[in-house]
Amino acid sequence: MIYNICNRNYNSPILTGHCMAVVEDLKKEAGIAACKYVKNGMKIGLGTGSTVKYTIIELGRRIAEEDLQIMGVPTSEVTKELAQSLNIPLSDLAEIGKLDLTIDGADEFDPNYNLIKGGGGALTREKIVALASNAMVVVADDRKQVSTLGQFPLPVEVTVSNWESVKEQISHICPGDVNLRETTEVPFVTDNGGYILDCNFGPMISKPDVLEKRINAFEGVVEVGLFVGICDVVIISSSSGIKTSTKPNGRLS
Ligand code: 5RP
Repeated sequence: MIYNICNRNYNSPILTGHCMAVVEDLKKEAGIAACKYVKNGMKIGLGTGSTVKYTIIELGRRIAEEDLQIMGVPTSEVTKELAQSLNIPLSDLAEIGKLDLTIDGADEFDPNYNLIKGGGGALTREKIVALASNAMVVVADDRKQVSTLGQFPLPVEVTVSNWESVKEQISHICPGDVNLRETTEVPFVTDNGGYILDCNFGPMISKPDVLEKRINAFEGVVEVGLFVGICDVVIISSSSGIKTSTKPNGRLS
């Protein structure tokens, strides 16, 4: 299989152009498949990232061609711009409160439907929107599926004034490096005006609820990119097709 020779890391130097195209197809398939959960009249949380982008494009198509009626709440400025360009009606939580469903990507998911998110830096709004939703569907290709979370560096949003002290505190509990996220040698700034620390725990986060609480207790932490007990369904694309994995006793089971 072509896909099986693709390295798991998007940015790997050995990921060939062909493999990148295969991965892009997998993202598209997962993103579009999630639209089966979207019905007329729903209020939908619109996630952030290169996989859920395809969900948003498909919703825009259904609005234009099939008269789908929905209201979206975007989780980032990038998603807001994309949705506006597709004429998806938008609102915010202050105005509409509870949402029917959020669809979003993930950097990792484990067998208990717990997630690492924040690779795109939008974790805080993503969590607020997901928590305001009656259910959460995650779209991902099978490279994101892990037995234990943590190979992907855990993103933690921090206030600009406290980032150094938070980094110091997390370093005491994190076996690997804790790095301030940068873009072209300046700190990456989130939509909320915060910074991101990427924390290399390694694949050892077996109790994500405990770690989330522990990190959240450090002064200056805005949000931790662990989503525990929030996701109900993962739509997983792979070279063998699409699989919908539904959490037993979850909100969509
Ligand atoms: C953004 C996120 C994304 O959902 C996550 O990084 C996955 O993105 P992609 O689909 O591009 O791999 O959490 O903050």
